[in-house]
Amino acid sequence: MPMQTVRTRPIEGQKPGTSGLRKKTAVFKRPHFLENYVQSIFDGIGGVQDKVLVVGGDGRFFNDDAIQIILRMAAANGAAKCIVGQGGILSTPAVSHLIRKRGADGGLILSASHNPGGPDADFGLKYNGPNGGPATEGVTDKIFARTQDIDIYKITASTGVDIDTLGIREHQGMKVEIVDPVEDYAALMETLFDFDKIHALFAGGFTMRFDAMHAVTGPYAHAILEDRLGAEAGSVLNGTPSPDFGGGHPDPNPIWAKDLMDVMHGPAAPDFGAASDGDGDRNMIVGRNTYVTPSDSLAVLTAKAHLAPGYRDGLAGVARSMPTSRAVDRVAEALGIACYETPTGWKFFGNLLDAGKATLCGEESAGTGSDHVREKDGLWAVLLWLNILAETGQSVADLMSDFWAEYGRCYYSRHDYEAVDSDKANAVMDGLRAQLPALPGGSVGNLVVEAADEFAYDDPVDGSRATGQGIRITFEGGARAVFRLSGTGTEGATIRVYLEKLETDADKLQLNPEHALAEVQNAARALSDLTAKTGRVDPDVVT
Ligand code: G1P
Ligand code: ZN
Repeated sequence: MPMQTVRTRPIEGQKPGTSGLRKKTAVFKRPHFLENYVQSIFDGIGGVQDKVLVVGGDGRFFNDDAIQIILRMAAANGAAKCIVGQGGILSTPAVSHLIRKRGADGGLILSASHNPGGPDADFGLKYNGPNGGPATEGVTDKIFARTQDIDIYKITASTGVDIDTLGIREHQGMKVEIVDPVEDYAALMETLFDFDKIHALFAGGFTMRFDAMHAVTGPYAHAILEDRLGAEAGSVLNGTPSPDFGGGHPDPNPIWAKDLMDVMHGPAAPDFGAASDGDGDRNMIVGRNTYVTPSDSLAVLTAKAHLAPGYRDGLAGVARSMPTSRAVDRVAEALGIACYETPTGWKFFGNLLDAGKATLCGEESAGTGSDHVREKDGLWAVLLWLNILAETGQSVADLMSDFWAEYGRCYYSRHDYEAVDSDKANAVMDGLRAQLPALPGGSVGNLVVEAADEFAYDDPVDGSRATGQGIRITFEGGARAVFRLSGTGTEGATIRVYLEKLETDADKLQLNPEHALAEVQNAARALSDLTAKTGRVDPDVVT
């Protein structure tokens, strides 16, 4: 068999973050860089001899070439089979599902999520384990350790494999199975949701726009929303994956999905709007003139999930990342189910899902999901919303009003200060940390501090402890300010300030969120001294 063992040496800067390794595309294209990293993954997981891997990506620039390299390396390393999405396309949740359905040993996802794509933008590679979820911290550490002392990688001397034609073929002793990227995923969705009911909703004149943002969910949305559920043609916008996502940021929030936001707040707004990100795991939900924050979405889905067939028997529990608003906590309490608060990052939900402790999970950063896969899932969230709207017959705005009347409203906003000098960002965090013991009982403006700490998490399943997971300061009456440094930025440090305020006064449930949060924002400014320490006044991004 024509196989090469290539001598190589470690290349610096290969530390994978919470979602695999993300770098500039040009870095991934440097000689041996991708090969080194792929071999480090293979070595870090104990080799791939006789193993089955799922491989696919979000279609960004370099997706196809990278898949060819991965397939040649998997073959040279003795893998039994690679299951690849046709044309190299698979969304992150679809990979998670395929791994689980086929009992594969893991998967490789080529994506930098919501980061832009193209020769001058970002690329990424992430390994998911046999449960379909992101690599655990232990595995990530092993992969990283291998990048530091790697000396050889193996690759077949062959040219490419046809990944565009469905079917099973042989590549240098390894089987390559090309599968339809949508089919298995759509079948899974059909088991969870009442497709007939949603079909009837659309047949009755309900209108929607789904913005696929030129990214991976286009084919999924066309097939499921338009072809199967009968949403009118044209409901899916930007539905063809493009290597540079049409030059945009495939990030489903009011900033980057502004076109959709404008439509939803314009005179011809459809009943429902939604968007998903580069690799299809994030979601944005918006009704006519009504933006639903991801934290509220998690809470509403928790309250109403039983309306969908897949969740008819109720939820075992729910989990949210620490900075996500506490709206869902109030629903969980009313339902009498457990609510877990985990550090930021989907991997912390994995154990809770595997152990059957949580059924739904969510993050304020537009991630929602359930135990049907081990990743957050953008289209799944959209379908659950549609199922709920079909069952209740309510508009998004009415549903939200009723929800707030019942549980109170957690006004919420995240402020990001990007590309801050790392020393200055650390000074902000150190300054806050130093104040923590003295804060409780004291007041900041009109707010009285109830508790203040640096979040640490003890995993209830494996007992592991994660420390330094962000600073949280809660105020009497249900307001909160949270501070943490991003773990995914590629330039300097990003300071994230999360603001939250609970309102239960029936006359104050429809305020402008910015106004409702002004007092907490002032308190956050005063406590962090952010402007003096960083020179920044206004955040770069508010979501
Ligand atoms: C961000 C989000 C976080 C999400 C992660 C990966 O991480 O805040 O919720 O899990 O991206 O999609 P951060 O940059 O804040 O570390
Ligand atoms: Zn993503």
